[in-house]
Amino acid sequence: MRLHIVEDYQEMSKKAATIVASQVTLKPESVLGLATGSTPLGMYRNLVQMYRDDIIDLSEVVTFNLDEYLGLGPEHPQSYHHYMHKNFFNQVNIPEDNIHLPQGNSENIEQVCREYDRKIARYKGIDLQVLGIGVNGHIGFNEPDNKLKTATHQVRLTEDTIKANSRFFSSEEEVPRRAVSMGMGSIMQARMILLLASGKQKALAIKNSISGEITTEVPASLLQLHPEVITIVDREAAMYID
Ligand code: F6R
Repeated sequence: MRLHIVEDYQEMSKKAATIVASQVTLKPESVLGLATGSTPLGMYRNLVQMYRDDIIDLSEVVTFNLDEYLGLGPEHPQSYHHYMHKNFFNQVNIPEDNIHLPQGNSENIEQVCREYDRKIARYKGIDLQVLGIGVNGHIGFNEPDNKLKTATHQVRLTEDTIKANSRFFSSEEEVPRRAVSMGMGSIMQARMILLLASGKQKALAIKNSISGEITTEVPASLLQLHPEVITIVDREAAMYID
């Protein structure tokens, strides 16, 4: 694992965008695995600027998002579909047909999950997977448990995650209790992983993930087994790293 400790969120975001930009420059038809939440917002802003400045062209890029809330349709303002279009897709030139997110409001979630994995396999897996990390060490919505799933699946969100994500909703009650998440299989099979974390609330999860025991109770700790992980953390998120 390559670890970069940077000064702050701005520097983390810039460095992350530079890595994504390098990936799509080297391989224009790259398959990117993308995350939502607060962490990658600055990275998306930097990528949008690079696109406007003609530094990158995303016309051949294919994307697969990590997750979506169960029950929220694409138009719902808190859905990850909405987030991705608002913060990234609507501002760059990735063709709509190349964009994939699990459909959270389908009648048949099992089929959505199976089809999602089939599509990822059809594109021969993910070249670069961007990850944030939960305060509890989750990646995607693979929550701490005594076992983890490899395939895309339905999950019940933990209380930690519901609490952490309630900041995007008007109350904690409104946070969906379930989600669809890419499993550990697609994440671990990505050819390269970019793990991002900012802020002291992530410090313990980062310490446990990069230097703790490898355990399904800290899903991000499994990344220690991946050969190509770049971790970029700011000073606060790095405060417990020895
Ligand atoms: C989001 C996702 C989650 C977040 C994590 C951190 O698509 O998969 O694992 O990356 O919950 O969220 P933030 O960045 O909001 O702290």
